[in-house]
Amino acid sequence: MGFQPQQLRTLGDCGLKVSPLGIGTVKLGRNTGIKYPQAFDLPDDHQVSVLLETARALGINLIDTAPAYGISEQRLGQLLPGSRGDWVVCTKVGEQYQDQKSHYDFSAKATRLSLETSLRHLRTDYLDIVLVHCADDDLDILQHSGVLAELDRFKSRGYIKAIGASTKSVAAGLLAVEETDIVMLTCNLDDQSQQPVLERARALNKGVLLKKLFASGHLQDNEAAINFAMTQRAVASAIIGTINPTHLAANVSAAVKALQP
Ligand SMILES: NC(=O)c1ccc[n+]([C@@H]2O[C@H](COP(=O)([O-])OP(=O)(O)OC[C@H]3O[C@@H](n4cnc5c(N)ncnc54)[C@H](OP(=O)(O)O)[C@@H]3O)[C@@H](O)[C@H]2O)c1
Repeated sequence: MGFQPQQLRTLGDCGLKVSPLGIGTVKLGRNTGIKYPQAFDLPDDHQVSVLLETARALGINLIDTAPAYGISEQRLGQLLPGSRGDWVVCTKVGEQYQDQKSHYDFSAKATRLSLETSLRHLRTDYLDIVLVHCADDDLDILQHSGVLAELDRFKSRGYIKAIGASTKSVAAGLLAVEETDIVMLTCNLDDQSQQPVLERARALNKGVLLKKLFASGHLQDNEAAINFAMTQRAVASAIIGTINPTHLAANVSAAVKALQP
């Protein structure tokens, strides 16, 4: 049992509708320099296909990737099942992962190059959501780097449907809510410091996506975490990272249960 089409949620006022859980794809493309509790091998193409088919069968339509997730974008471009319109694809700009290190560049030129590469890797002519993949100085990046203006240009030319930022600080989250369509932030049972951003997003009808709901696999009670996310009224969807179809099905089942009236 998965999500029904009527359970898709509006993502703020940007016109996109997303499933209450999305799938995070760090582990599809990268297994170095990450914060998960256990080491893992990248899944092979067959395993990725089974995972993505399972997601689709469970009613998940939101998929989160980034240039910083190794070969995640390329693999989605090759292996995403169904037609392009079946999926809301979220990718990012600003961070690249090369030679086992993160490199940040939020300039207009780097943003342009990154978007062109993402379009090519994902084998698509539009991106549903593009977020600024913020580093620690997130407020400064959003205010001074020129990245938001460049994203806006791509949006006005029809290459992107909605823009936003994946933020760390409350101040940057609030700026993203004021000036963009979507904010992606961490809010889970262990860390609710971003509540002011959730409240402002709700007041302005902006889209909120949660990341790291399971604290990158360090949280013990996954069902309680999903229950928490499903009851946050400002949140459209929680992105959970997994390469395990059984875990994916368990997460959807917990979400469906939490959403029952
Ligand atoms: N924009 C950003 O700056 C940013 C930063 C971090 C993350 N993200 C996005 O958010 C997504 C989620 O964050 P995350 O991957 O760091 O962490 P997460 O979703 O909090 O946790 C993922 C971990 O939980 C495990 N897991 C998932 N379901 C499980 C289940 N039912 N039972 C047991 N373990 C389970 C996964 O292992 P298995 O693979 O074994 O299931 C994985 O190791 C990422 O994939 C990415 O798309 C964005």
